[in-house]
Amino acid sequence: MSDHAEQERTAVRVAVAGGTGAVGHHAVASLRAAGHEPVVISRGRGVDARRAAGLDAALEGVDAVIDALSVETLDGGETVEFFRATTQNLLAAEARAGVQHHVALSIVAIERAPFGYYAGKVAQEQLVEAGDIPWTILRAAQFHEFAAQMYDRAKIGPLRVAPRMRTQPVAAREVGDALAAIAAGGAAGRVPDLAGPREESLVRMVRAYARAIGARGWLPAVPVPGPFGRAQRDGSLLPDASATLGRQTFDQWLAGVRPAR
Ligand SMILES: NC(=O)c1ccc[n+]([C@@H]2O[C@H](COP(=O)([O-])OP(=O)(O)OC[C@H]3O[C@@H](n4cnc5c(N)ncnc54)[C@H](OP(=O)(O)O)[C@@H]3O)[C@@H](O)[C@H]2O)c1
Repeated sequence: MSDHAEQERTAVRVAVAGGTGAVGHHAVASLRAAGHEPVVISRGRGVDARRAAGLDAALEGVDAVIDALSVETLDGGETVEFFRATTQNLLAAEARAGVQHHVALSIVAIERAPFGYYAGKVAQEQLVEAGDIPWTILRAAQFHEFAAQMYDRAKIGPLRVAPRMRTQPVAAREVGDALAAIAAGGAAGRVPDLAGPREESLVRMVRAYARAIGARGWLPAVPVPGPFGRAQRDGSLLPDASATLGRQTFDQWLAGVRPAR
């Protein structure tokens, strides 16, 4: 069989829910580079997974779905509602479309500390595990890009802050590559966590990111109050020794960040 014919035979059509996001766009690029056929699901592309608008058309002929959706709120109720609704809507549409593999991206250690966003991810994992679509769940550590997300989102009033946290961040590109490879294979259940090559301080990451984009100003290190903040600081949210480790360090990633214009 020629290389081209071989590729045609093994190429899969994979919908990436959140395919324009920090990790989702890397999964899309990785699928394309491997000769697969990605389909992007996002509101910007006219498909709303929360309202189930446009899902059936998006999943036509799709073999596997990667769920890399996220919601920009830290409100527990809203997060749980978002991940429940989007997961239920995706799984139901997948069943109608005959999708054979649901790949969910989750976060390392979400059951170890009480936090609204993590509660949403726990609810998502439970629905996937209880569902009828064969599944794989990959938990990843915080992305290097988390420094940028925290710089943009962590504020007390108008003041930007850097939350204290021990983390072992991983390149979103490497997580995207892992998701693409998983989606092209069969359902595997829970696979080993994916983390970065070394532990970092989130405070240092956010401050270094701010410097890299040319931002000035005071970025105070802030301990998040309560049991979740304690877990962030005491290492409870770090990956176990069984995690697969990525290659790119935070500083290598940061070297590619350009000053904002
Ligand atoms: N960030 C991290 O450090 C990290 C670490 C480990 C795991 N994760 C997990 O990775 C996943 C993705 O996170 P991310 O940081 O890449 O997210 P992100 O950059 O905020 O991207 C979110 C994506 O979801 C889409 N989206 C949001 N609401 C939608 C809706 N109702 N219907 C369709 N699409 C919708 C967005 O596109 P539109 O706005 O156009 O709809 C976008 O493509 C999350 O589940 C998160 O828990 C994140």
